[in-house]
Amino acid sequence: MIYLNGEFMPIEQARIPVLDRGFIFGDGVYEVIPVYSRHPFRLAEHLRRLQQSLNGIKLVNPHDDPTWTRLIRRLVELNEPDDQSLYMHITRGPAKRDHAFPALVTPTVFLMSNPLTTPPQQQVNDGVRAITAVDNRWLRCDIKAIALLPNVLLRQEAVEAGCVETVLLRDGFMTEGAASNIFVVRDGVLLAPPKNHLMLPGITYDVVLELAQASGIRHEIREIPEDELRSAQEVWLTSSTKEVLAISRLDGAPVGTGKPGPVFARMYALYQDYKNQVMRSG
Ligand code: PDD
Repeated sequence: MIYLNGEFMPIEQARIPVLDRGFIFGDGVYEVIPVYSRHPFRLAEHLRRLQQSLNGIKLVNPHDDPTWTRLIRRLVELNEPDDQSLYMHITRGPAKRDHAFPALVTPTVFLMSNPLTTPPQQQVNDGVRAITAVDNRWLRCDIKAIALLPNVLLRQEAVEAGCVETVLLRDGFMTEGAASNIFVVRDGVLLAPPKNHLMLPGITYDVVLELAQASGIRHEIREIPEDELRSAQEVWLTSSTKEVLAISRLDGAPVGTGKPGPVFARMYALYQDYKNQVMRSG
């Protein structure tokens, strides 16, 4: 079951006008919220970031937070698995094709749920392979825009190289992954790039830094030059669907020992504990 513009329906019945500006221009924003045991994880934070993305494209939020919360909870109820990946998608709506905003238009609101598939245990234990590429996206990567063609092409490069992610470098510094944030461990210190217009402010990124803070893992938020990425003892990726995952090979070279490192092991356990705690408390 999905939600489209006021109605819940089977996805096969969902129809969008071809002139929808999401289809024509990629003029819209989205969110992906993990749902564990039917509890949307960090819902308030996802709704706050949605508001920031809407502000970024000058689109009025079609719903207030209590309405979003009600719609999301209903959709979670209507779908089968306990663990879901909830997708929210808002476009500027259907209008005659013209780059400038139409005067009168109703935004399209689409919500869907898919089963949440977190990484298999083997990927957690062994880490995953990644490549690097030049970050050739626009300069507003802080907006979670549905126009994802650069990210799609960058991720595809990884897949064609037998890898799971592409780590992006802009002007000699690491920004993020094609669909994830990236952390580095050097000399036992967890390093994260600062949130700015060159990366998406990840919800998982925040959770990882909060857990590091709460459990005394030394950490620093600062720019990460390419050479520090390549000589790091550990590299991780984070996202709502991949949670925290170690990158064990980068461009074919082993990261550290070529196995997930001790700081990763600690953070992975902290993350799972935190998740379980949140699920229990609802
Ligand atoms: N992507 N950076 C980019 C470019 C992303 O697309 C994502 C997530 C993240 C991580 O953000 P978060 O921790 O809030 O999921 C960082 C989602 C999962 C997607 O597009 O499917």
